[in-house]
Amino acid sequence: MTMPAIEFPNAIIALRDEHRYMGLLLTTLEEQLESEELSAREGYFLMQDIVRYMHEYPDTEHHPTEDLMFEKLVRRNPAREMDVARLRREHVMLRENTADMLELLDNAAKRRTPKAIKALRVACSDYIDRLRQHMQFEEAELFPSAVRCLAHKDWHAIDRRLESTQDPLFGPTVQHDYRVLYEYFANRAAQVSQQMTHYGFLQLDNMILSADAVEAGIAEIWEMLLGHADSLAQELRVVANKSFDGRSLISAITVQSAYAGFVGKTACQVGSKAARIYYKTLRDAVVFFFKGTQ
Ligand SMILES: [Fe+2]
Ligand SMILES: [Fe+2]
Repeated sequence: MTMPAIEFPNAIIALRDEHRYMGLLLTTLEEQLESEELSAREGYFLMQDIVRYMHEYPDTEHHPTEDLMFEKLVRRNPAREMDVARLRREHVMLRENTADMLELLDNAAKRRTPKAIKALRVACSDYIDRLRQHMQFEEAELFPSAVRCLAHKDWHAIDRRLESTQDPLFGPTVQHDYRVLYEYFANRAAQVSQQMTHYGFLQLDNMILSADAVEAGIAEIWEMLLGHADSLAQELRVVANKSFDGRSLISAITVQSAYAGFVGKTACQVGSKAARIYYKTLRDAVVFFFKGTQ
């Protein structure tokens, strides 16, 4: 028996998206804190932008929207009163934390003494842990409870509040003050994408997994796969040339085989002939590679 799909209210989807964004910022903040070059100016600018964003958007919009949702939840389900009271206290505390961190950052950026850097590291680490736990509890406990208990008119009121706010960094328009931070993430995303396309994996995924593409013409896919086979063999050769003991070669082939298995299985699931084509392509690629290195 198939379970009916749960439809999440828009507000829950939006709040969870904001948690993902905050998670990304916390990870970046953590990376900067752990970096050996904490004394570099760029690191401070990046951290200042992140903490300023946390203070200007999550503290003033995300948490108050949740407060509104929690207030309605307690009315519908009084058993949640203690949890809600705790989370509301945490919202106040998190806002105080970001204000303190901005001061500590300013101080550490100006003085760069070991004492100032240590105070910054301690405050930021506490904040990162606190906010991560806070978000986990909301997602595990209170968001599901709100989905179960709130009525349509409750969600309308929350939606209205959400519509009146605009995220200055992850919203439809990036505010000028957050351009540098936005570009930092855009560059990182581009780097990841480049690494993937380097091996042709991304295009391969798109080709194999797209049922439309399969229907549109196996011949065309075949041609493109052959192109990938060449670049795949080329990559394998580069890896092998770098290593004289063969370990890199083995790991390169293992990775490729695992990937082929994954792609092949998925492609079989969509009932296409692409899996067989891909296996043949991989085999050809490996043969081509061995021939090329003899
Ligand atoms: Fe919250
Ligand atoms: Fe939250």
